[in-house]
Amino acid sequence: MEFLAMCGSLRAESFNGAVIRAAAELCPPAARLDVVADLGKLPFFNQDVELQAAPPEVRDLRERCAEADGLFIASPEYARGTSGVLKNALEWLVGSGKQVGKPVALVTASTSPQGGDRAQAWLAETLTMMGTVVLPEGLRIGLAAAKITEGRLVHEATRVELRALLSELALAARENKAD
Ligand SMILES: Cc1cc2nc3c(=O)[nH]c(=O)nc-3n(C[C@H](O)[C@H](O)[C@H](O)COP(=O)(O)O)c2cc1C
Repeated sequence: MEFLAMCGSLRAESFNGAVIRAAAELCPPAARLDVVADLGKLPFFNQDVELQAAPPEVRDLRERCAEADGLFIASPEYARGTSGVLKNALEWLVGSGKQVGKPVALVTASTSPQGGDRAQAWLAETLTMMGTVVLPEGLRIGLAAAKITEGRLVHEATRVELRALLSELALAARENKAD
């Protein structure tokens, strides 16, 4: 079982990037993450380009999404929404339909106490419109700077929550396959 993992931050020391590294460690034994290294390499979405021929980076993202059993997304909250790079990736995916029916686990890590709750709600709405099945309970990691040290998620209670979220994603993916 494989989950396509996307990070909404391009920052080298990103807390959300650290969450994705932790998720790779905490996946159930039968699952692994296929981590998209850098969403910043995607060109800006342009429907004219899409209608001619999708660029290679976009084709690669779409193929990896098609092969994935689910999606794992970790994103910062910027100005009460998700990041531009992540929204751009979702815009390239939406028309492909490769995401339809796949379960999605959402995590937002923020330095604020709310843990990016507004970005998460915003993402859930967009991803639902895109035909994915967003897990009802995502994870909001507030005060992330106190929980992530030297690029590692060290806060034990959050690691437990992240492990549980990944188990739910695996369960949803298994049920999806059985249908
Ligand atoms: C331009 C900008 C806007 C931000 N807006 C919000 C916001 O609306 N809500 C929030 O909780 N945090 C906000 N933050 C704080 C980010 O969530 C925080 O910097 C977070 O660590 C970024 O994620 P990263 O560590 O993965 O790069 C903002 C940060 C920046 C740089």
